[in-house]
Amino acid sequence: MLTSRLFLICASIVSFCIETSQATCNVTHVGDTENLLLRGTILTSNGALCDSHVLVESGKITYVGSGHDLGCMLGQKNVTVVDCIGSVISPGFINTHEHIGYSTITPLKDIGERTNQRHDWRVGARNFTRRPAPVNGSEYDATKWGELRHIFSGTTSIVGGEMVPGLARNLDFASGLEDGLFAPTATFDVFPLNDASGIQRLGNCDYGAAAITQDEAGRLYRYLAHVGEGVDAVAENEFQCLSNSTFDVTPLTDGGGLSTDIIAPNLALIHASSLTNEDFDLVAARGAMVVWSPRSNVFLYGKTLNVTYLLDAGITVALGTDWLPSGSATMGREAVCGRDVTQKDYDIGIAPQDIWEMMTINAAKVAGFEHQLGSLDVGKLADIVVFSGDVQQGDAFAQAVYAPSDNLQLVLRGGKILVAGEGLDILATEGCEAVLWGSVTKSICVTDAVNSTFAEFEAVLGGVYPAILPGIPDGEPTCVSTR
Ligand SMILES: *[C@@H]1O[C@H](CO)[C@@H](O)[C@H](O)[C@H]1NC(C)=O
Ligand SMILES: *[C@@H]1O[C@H](CO)[C@@H](O)[C@H](O)[C@H]1NC(C)=O
Ligand SMILES: *[C@@H]1O[C@H](CO)[C@@H](O)[C@H](O)[C@H]1NC(C)=O
Ligand SMILES: *[C@@H]1O[C@H](CO)[C@@H](O)[C@H](O)[C@H]1NC(C)=O
Ligand SMILES: *[C@@H]1O[C@H](CO)[C@@H](O)[C@H](O)[C@H]1NC(C)=O
Ligand SMILES: *[C@@H]1O[C@H](CO)[C@@H](O)[C@H](O)[C@H]1NC(C)=O
Ligand SMILES: *[C@@H]1O[C@H](CO)[C@@H](O)[C@H](O)[C@H]1NC(C)=O
Ligand SMILES: [Zn+2]
Repeated sequence: MLTSRLFLICASIVSFCIETSQATCNVTHVGDTENLLLRGTILTSNGALCDSHVLVESGKITYVGSGHDLGCMLGQKNVTVVDCIGSVISPGFINTHEHIGYSTITPLKDIGERTNQRHDWRVGARNFTRRPAPVNGSEYDATKWGELRHIFSGTTSIVGGEMVPGLARNLDFASGLEDGLFAPTATFDVFPLNDASGIQRLGNCDYGAAAITQDEAGRLYRYLAHVGEGVDAVAENEFQCLSNSTFDVTPLTDGGGLSTDIIAPNLALIHASSLTNEDFDLVAARGAMVVWSPRSNVFLYGKTLNVTYLLDAGITVALGTDWLPSGSATMGREAVCGRDVTQKDYDIGIAPQDIWEMMTINAAKVAGFEHQLGSLDVGKLADIVVFSGDVQQGDAFAQAVYAPSDNLQLVLRGGKILVAGEGLDILATEGCEAVLWGSVTKSICVTDAVNSTFAEFEAVLGGVYPAILPGIPDGEPTCVSTR
């Protein structure tokens, strides 16, 4: 066995991309399942490495390369060898923006109304239609369901405001990190201006009394805050209040009412869809980051920002799905939306690798975990996803980021198998079950975290929006801009 394994490794010295992809991965040697050797096209910031290997030992990545120097390193180790030639091997996706509790309801119906700022639809401000999204059943179960949906589309980490133990890593909760990841964690804020009641302002900062201050924001490791969500001056006013300390120097009698300046490298602005190019120039100059959720922007406000302007300015941009009611159900669908809207509205093609960085290393930077997650580098945690499928226009990054979840062959979180595709059921042993995935069967291993089988949990929830989403999800909010 050892000999044939070494032969396999040595035979792969020549690096070349096999363009005709096979349907699935194959297990060519069964050894200890905590030690996995994956073979395929490896996605890195320096490009795609054709016919290369990743070694996973005890939850970490211990080798990445062509494999020709691997033989000695393996020694007497009894690793399981998974041959995914023709498939792409990527770091697990990191979703930097979710409201994960809203995962058992169906996406909002499109009533044809596009609003200008989030309180327009949240509370029905300025005569817009209020769009309530009541959570169906328990929020805990809904959160669990949402984490399952993201794992089942290749996302291994989430910043989502809520969490359950196990399943996806929750980068905004010290108790949600899982499998060898260590704090500090990111801070997620939906209402930095303390405006949850629906306060809209123009020309002043008379929002809530407990709005964030420069001092408070400055003490946070990473601060991910909704800023300027919408498309008009009322939305953009929020940026003025958080970037210019002389914009409003008149306090309110009960506290608050002052502008501040929190634009710093620890800040990621969520949405920022109303910001001007000059605003983004300031964001870039200060080294602050942006979380982009194009589908939700388009559905709620009729357009999204010009992401290439941000990239050209050197801003670190990460992708996030926002929430099921108006956003993408999966990171892959968010990537497709980001590509399409930028092409159609701005006539600019985004390189698949740029989108991939928004879903991996940039996202890790936004959440502050770039030293432990976000790339396939030796020493990092083994959060890994593998996608089969045709090489889309010869681009290995496109094969990963735009893949339907049907193409998912493997999801590892800290080296643990959470999803194993059609040919890999042999790897799915304890706590695993077979589930129907469109026209095929895959194995999922989530029983420990779900505290029952997936099938039992699904039956308890009874007919909610599905967590396994082959193809294009039903009722998906539009990504076609109207202005
Ligand atoms: C991999 O599996 C495919 C079918 O799924 C099969 O045709 C092929 O021979 C297998 N390759 C190896 C190396 O076992
Ligand atoms: C490798 O691991 C497998 C699975 O645990 C076991 O059946 C096999 O005997 C091991 N082989 C060696 C050489 O240790
Ligand atoms: C809420 O859940 C029930 C099943 O428990 C389902 O029948 C219903 O369609 C769900 N409602 C929405 C709005 O998703
Ligand atoms: C909302 O509608 C009412 C009734 O038509 C109108 O009086 C009011 O001016 C409108 N408010 C805004 C902000 O458009
Ligand atoms: C900050 O706000 C003040 C008062 O509105 C304004 O005069 C100044 O130009 C603003 N600074 C920037 C950089 O926008
Ligand atoms: C979008 O950004 C690109 C890159 O900075 C720029 O060339 C282009 O003019 C912008 N398009 C619009 C419509 O603002
Ligand atoms: C798991 O399920 C058992 C039996 O249904 C129950 O007693 C226990 O409280 C559950 N634990 C969690 C964490 O949900
Ligand atoms: Zn949000």
